[in-house]
Amino acid sequence: MSMDANLVSALNAQIRGEFAASYVYLGMSAYFESLDLKGFAGWMRAQSQEEWAHGMRIFDHLAARDAPISLAELSSPTTDYYDPKSAVAAALAQEQDTTRDVNQLYAQAISCGDYQAKGLLDWFVNEQTEEEDSLRTLLSQLTIAGDSGAALLILDRELSERDASDDEPMG
Ligand code: FEO
Repeated sequence: MSMDANLVSALNAQIRGEFAASYVYLGMSAYFESLDLKGFAGWMRAQSQEEWAHGMRIFDHLAARDAPISLAELSSPTTDYYDPKSAVAAALAQEQDTTRDVNQLYAQAISCGDYQAKGLLDWFVNEQTEEEDSLRTLLSQLTIAGDSGAALLILDRELSERDASDDEPMG
């Protein structure tokens, strides 16, 4: 079926949201590179790549349904945070905003009776639960680490073990 114009517009806005999130995570990766915390930097880089793939999921859905795709401008993300914990807190806040946006899109798809879009968004709803959980865990671990440089280095080493193969293909 052809898509509702308002839903198409909201999905295009979400493509921008995912790419903007990708760019923000890349800024966080640059921040952690500046501290030589390579595990955190790599973890944030992997997050950035995931967000890019999320945007492409929506892009591909619109393309498959012959719906118009529009690509908006992205603003420049910061590469400077007060400390590692504030960067991770900002990442969690970003994911909570994304969850709110995804939930709104989900309600909109249902109200349009667009169950193909709902199918796409089912994946996003589940993904947000995982994304928030992993960032909440990381934030708690940084709170426990407190001012301990040793604990921060242990955490950095653990994060460096995140492998691309841990993530779903195009996740
Ligand atoms: Fe696209 Fe981090 O959710």
